[in-house]
Amino acid sequence: MGYVLRSVPVKMDSREKILRLLIQKKYLSGGELARICGITRVAVWKHINYLISHRIKIKIHPNQGYELLDLSNTVLPEVIRIELKTDILARKIIWYDQIDSTNEALKRMLKDDLEEGTLVIAEQQTQGKGRKGAKWYSAKGKDLLFSILFYPRLPYPYLPLFNIIGALAVSRAIRNYLNLSAFVKWPNDVLLNEKKVAGVLTEFVAEIDRLDKLILGIGINVNSSPKLRSAISLSKVKDTEICRVTLLREILMELELFYRKISQKKTKEIGRIWKTLSYHYNKIITVSCERKKLKGRSLGLDEYGNLLLKMGKRIKTLYPTATIKLILN
Ligand code: BTN
Repeated sequence: MGYVLRSVPVKMDSREKILRLLIQKKYLSGGELARICGITRVAVWKHINYLISHRIKIKIHPNQGYELLDLSNTVLPEVIRIELKTDILARKIIWYDQIDSTNEALKRMLKDDLEEGTLVIAEQQTQGKGRKGAKWYSAKGKDLLFSILFYPRLPYPYLPLFNIIGALAVSRAIRNYLNLSAFVKWPNDVLLNEKKVAGVLTEFVAEIDRLDKLILGIGINVNSSPKLRSAISLSKVKDTEICRVTLLREILMELELFYRKISQKKTKEIGRIWKTLSYHYNKIITVSCERKKLKGRSLGLDEYGNLLLKMGKRIKTLYPTATIKLILN
């Protein structure tokens, strides 16, 4: 499994403590767990059953103890938090077995003054949303579907950069963890073998001209078999089941690094990284923009994440409402 545990933090609920102890020791008796956590054996048993029903493989040895076999197929908060190296993102995690949309769930909670970085994650969405009113479909328990809350407190023009950093974080995480050549396609897609493997959807609340609250939703085809011919999943390319939680932790770490760059207004750096991971940088592309088709060379991003298109002698700035239709060379 490869999880290293240094210490059991003091402020942690019993379920998380049990899980961490099992990761550390692999095998423990109900009595030992009860003693260390200061709860009854029955309470231990209930927590174990909860973990098992949430896709954690634990073998129960009757009258002896519990053996942790595998936790690679779960994205429970207790598991995400293990080895998570972020400071801002996912300090608070809200998990759903099923929800309409993680973006919508987070939107409904905005009035509760949630802390920045709150992560909402679901095993299944019944009304997953894509860009421009499209739907986002995903099989239950197979993929990654999550949204993160940001309080950017930045001028409104910085909005497109959040799409950009979402796609860059996913692409970098896929490269680091799975060693696959994932590329970003402006404004919000991640491609693998020229097919879509992930998408980003940002929604926001702005006050006059300031980005106040921003929700960054990310959907990744991890272990599913997408029906669309234009889509692909990571497991299809790797030909093996992918550990969702490891990928998620990697994405959160990358996203936090990029978010710091935006906060420090080091956005040119983001533009430079984008060029190295872009599917269409310096290529001739056709862009659908306000019912017109514009053809030109894709030059890179401006400091706010808008796409610069060189058309003859003119450089046109494209906002993320535009869609790239075709790569011509
Ligand atoms: C796109 O490529 O069109 C964007 C897809 C974004 C999908 C994610 S899944 C998690 C979050 N919740 C949603 O309803 N949508 C985003």
